[in-house]
Amino acid sequence: MASASSPVAVEEYMTALLEAKTLGLTKKIGVSNFTIDLLKRAIAVVGAENIETNQIELSPYLQNRRLVNFMDQQGINVTSYMTLAYGKALKDPVIQEIASHNQQTPAQVILAWALAKGYAVIPSSTKRENLASNLAAQSITLSDEQLIKIDQLDSNSREVNPEGLAPIWINLSNLYKAANHEKNIDIKR
Ligand SMILES: NC(=O)c1ccc[n+]([C@@H]2O[C@H](COP(=O)([O-])OP(=O)(O)OC[C@H]3O[C@@H](n4cnc5c(N)ncnc54)[C@H](OP(=O)(O)O)[C@@H]3O)[C@@H](O)[C@H]2O)c1
Repeated sequence: MASASSPVAVEEYMTALLEAKTLGLTKKIGVSNFTIDLLKRAIAVVGAENIETNQIELSPYLQNRRLVNFMDQQGINVTSYMTLAYGKALKDPVIQEIASHNQQTPAQVILAWALAKGYAVIPSSTKRENLASNLAAQSITLSDEQLIKIDQLDSNSREVNPEGLAPIWINLSNLYKAANHEKNIDIKR
């Protein structure tokens, strides 16, 4: 698995990973936290057919649609991490309403939504009963109306932002706020 935060150029390590695959040392190559730009660079070197998946933060609150559309066009699978927004989305009223209507757990509702979109999910839990009920989400089908309600929860809010792990995502609204802040400082001066 190649990571976006590597100090080595993407071209160099993707070439090495393809060599490892050619030698039979790995069956598949996956990347993580790759932005569209990084994916384009990786594709230019090894071809999209050699990139199995991009593991990215993706939850009802952060649906990463532009990146997901690009990956879809390229035939690269989405692996969603922090699908439950590290537990935050479990308390969401829309999720809770669907869960109680369907007699499912909030985690199952979120996982079933992500699976319905064709994403692989890797929820973590320290509890056996949560692991078991999360696994059971694979056999749950939500209605189209419920899927749309969850689609509407997207608020571009991310959980992961540590330096060196998360890529540099450009958040236009923050840039706009920063620009306005600068303008106000200039006016005061
Ligand atoms: N590639 C990357 O850069 C990257 C970054 C972050 C994470 N990851 C990976 O993504 C995976 C998942 O991420 P994550 O663990 O940070 O976030 P997550 O799966 O969104 O959330 C885990 C949290 O949800 C709770 N939970 C899970 N199932 C539950 C259930 N059925 N009912 C109630 N609470 C439930 C867990 O608590 P309990 O333990 O109490 O169940 C835990 O607090 C991990 O394997 C992690 O390694 C990858």
